[in-house]
Amino acid sequence: MSDTNKSVSTTEGSGPQTTGRTLVFNILRYNPQEAGDKPRMVRYEVPEAPNMTIFIALNYIREKLEPSLQFDFVCRAGICGSCGMVINGRPDLACRTLTTKFPDGEITLMPLPAFKLIGDLSVNTGEFMRKVAERVESWIHSDEAEHPHLDVLEERMDPDTADEIYELDRCIECGCCISACGTMRMRDEFLGARGFMNVARFMADPRDERTDEEWYEILGDDDGVFGCMSLLGCEDSCPKDLPHQTKIAYLRRRMVKA
Ligand code: SF4
Ligand code: SF4
Ligand code: FES
Repeated sequence: MSDTNKSVSTTEGSGPQTTGRTLVFNILRYNPQEAGDKPRMVRYEVPEAPNMTIFIALNYIREKLEPSLQFDFVCRAGICGSCGMVINGRPDLACRTLTTKFPDGEITLMPLPAFKLIGDLSVNTGEFMRKVAERVESWIHSDEAEHPHLDVLEERMDPDTADEIYELDRCIECGCCISACGTMRMRDEFLGARGFMNVARFMADPRDERTDEEWYEILGDDDGVFGCMSLLGCEDSCPKDLPHQTKIAYLRRRMVKA
């Protein structure tokens, strides 16, 4: 990787609302689509605004300093999972990270590793997430689901079970847990924390009739829960605070019994 250290400073105002602090962003720039382009760190200076997020700062850079800068977003509210990136060494959501979190005002941004790079801070998480969903078969497996009995009253679900399913369904497929995972770097086919949460979700659902033997086929090897090193980078970096530690331990116990 070359380090051109191109420095772009701004004298343009950002409107009346500034904190008076100048933030320094070091961003990994690389467009694999462009012939001859090389990875390099580029420095940008941004006047900090009150309640500024990394996402807002990136928009400032793209609007005022570097129109070609690539990064993803949809919702700006921590819901769509598009804006995951490595922020000062840690995977997180750009739209939920305030610049005040960094007292020295120096912020380094890199794309999430473990995913195919589209350009700069934009990666393709969709391909991986689709692979996980296909492997886990992320839908209810039951005779009723395949052949609905329309004349039978719908069954009630215990509220605690419904809460547990809801809790695990909060995953936004941002990829932060995958990028923080050491095993993921060593095993291309590792299911990863996102997959484990997805399995736990369907295991918790009483409508899903899959047996432990069937789950073992998906989970019971080194590309599944037995490959997990339990260092819990996933738990530390999940912006939705999903219960990775508890569920990974639960899946492992259940698969040992199976
Ligand atoms: S605990 Fe397992 S899934 Fe989570 S980051 Fe570590 S190896 Fe990956
Ligand atoms: S489990 Fe957490 S970190 Fe992993 S993809 Fe889902 S929301 Fe993102
Ligand atoms: S833009 Fe949707 S989660 Fe950040």
